[in-house]
Amino acid sequence: MYPRRRHMNLHTPNSPPLSTPIITQLTPVPSAPNVLPVQQAPTAPPLGFPDNALEPALSAQTIRIHYQLFQNYATGFNAALQETASAKDESSMQQALRASAFQGSGYALHKLYFAALSPQPSQPGMLTMQAIARQYGGVTAFQNRFFLAAAAVEGPGWAVLGWHPELHELQLAALSKHQDSHIATLMPILALDMWEHAYWLDYPAQKADYWHAWWNLIYWPEVENRLMAAIA
Ligand SMILES: [Fe+2]
Repeated sequence: MYPRRRHMNLHTPNSPPLSTPIITQLTPVPSAPNVLPVQQAPTAPPLGFPDNALEPALSAQTIRIHYQLFQNYATGFNAALQETASAKDESSMQQALRASAFQGSGYALHKLYFAALSPQPSQPGMLTMQAIARQYGGVTAFQNRFFLAAAAVEGPGWAVLGWHPELHELQLAALSKHQDSHIATLMPILALDMWEHAYWLDYPAQKADYWHAWWNLIYWPEVENRLMAAIA
């Protein structure tokens, strides 16, 4: 914050001659208390279940490979952030920002994907249920819309449910890769990974079977918490 300056009015009868240096009085401003949270490097939280806990829907091998990729995105995001901080020219900054968008979006979406997976069956929370009912008419209708969004993903990408903070409503998105077709205002609360690494071993060329199996693994309390945070 800049210190306040008290300027002298040059047009009053009592103004000093112009040859006299203008004195600017600085009013000291007390330093504000630091309310910023502690900075944290991106890390992949540990899985909340054993590798094989989601079988037969998702095999232990698929989970192991996929979680390793998640860790790679965390590492890549850290590197991209450092490159962004140290870029010295426009070209290196462009490259660093591109890497940051790809690695960072991959990191954030995988974090959501794994946090919202569980071998324990759960139901949508009260807030999620209300939002789904208002937007789609009910869970079954929402499920159909979400699967249509999953089918609309061309190549590697994600089907995402998010909260739009300006329209105050749920919205679906089909992201290409991690970062393309991104709606900047959308706050993801549920994400289905449609990259082949997420399902190919278990569902080769059977994407619909994959998303139906995934549906039963959704950990709805995570969705509810994210929706509450988005609305707050
Ligand atoms: Fe993935």
